[in-house]
Amino acid sequence: MMRAPWATHFGFTKLPFSKTVSAKDLLDRASHQEAVARIRFCIAESLLGVITGEVGVGKTVALRAAISQLDPAAHHIVYLANPTVGTRGLYVTIVRALGAMPRGFKAELVAQAYTLLAAEEQERRRRVVLVIDEAHLLTPEQLEAIRLLTNADMDSAASCSLLLVGQPTLARQLRLGVFAALDQRIATRYQIAPMDLAEAAEYLHHHLALVGRTDPLFADDAVARLHKASLGLPRALNNAATAALIAATTAGKALVDDDCAKKAVAELTRD
Ligand SMILES: Nc1ncnc2c1ncn2[C@@H]1O[C@H](COP(=O)(O)OP(=O)(O)O)[C@@H](O)[C@H]1O
Ligand SMILES: [Mg+2]
Repeated sequence: MMRAPWATHFGFTKLPFSKTVSAKDLLDRASHQEAVARIRFCIAESLLGVITGEVGVGKTVALRAAISQLDPAAHHIVYLANPTVGTRGLYVTIVRALGAMPRGFKAELVAQAYTLLAAEEQERRRRVVLVIDEAHLLTPEQLEAIRLLTNADMDSAASCSLLLVGQPTLARQLRLGVFAALDQRIATRYQIAPMDLAEAAEYLHHHLALVGRTDPLFADDAVARLHKASLGLPRALNNAATAALIAATTAGKALVDDDCAKKAVAELTRD
């Protein structure tokens, strides 16, 4: 495998700050922990939960972390990564995920989804967890379809938990009068917070330790600059930290000082 020169320069065992972090390697920061706990609560109690946060704050990783802690034999996770599939598409996805062939017409399809959800719980004794990521992209019509699915009068729906995960606009959208019925069913809502400076420093340290460097590589002022530029968002901090490591390598420096951080920030904010 080709090694990136900057990885060699710092003696990393693999690239730090990669997009794919396994659930066990995640930093258990306070807001992440809280989100995971809320998600687990919703799943355990078959409730509706809403998790929001800015782009790259760690919503999807919190979901993955919570799901990784579940007993796979007792849960059936239906995960919709992108809900821009129309209202019918929403039901088709659920029906397919539960192992059936979607039936043609909408009314029929809705009934089929209910029946399958009920069967999963009552016959197979598996709790269905319906997860809709990027849920701020849901249309009003889809939100209405979801309200029907979670209608407490339906036997099947009572036993399925639903998680809506999306950008902060989702929380605002749900608060609009037209969605009041759905909004009232939300058992838990939580907005994942960006990292503060101390968490950002811990985040950098954590990721460097995962690739074999436990000694401090980033100067304090460099950390502060990268934290500020990233607005405390992990994904943005990944990019800023990587750019700073590359700048240090280019300059032949053993540590990332504020000069490297400045270069990284300038590079990332250039049009
Ligand atoms: N708790 C965490 N520990 C380690 N890395 C994290 C953590 N939270 C976020 N990240 C990093 O930030 C990236 C973006 O997180 P993600 O969950 O995809 O954001 P969102 O879904 O909110 O847009 C992840 O790919 C991961 O690299
Ligand atoms: Mg995401």
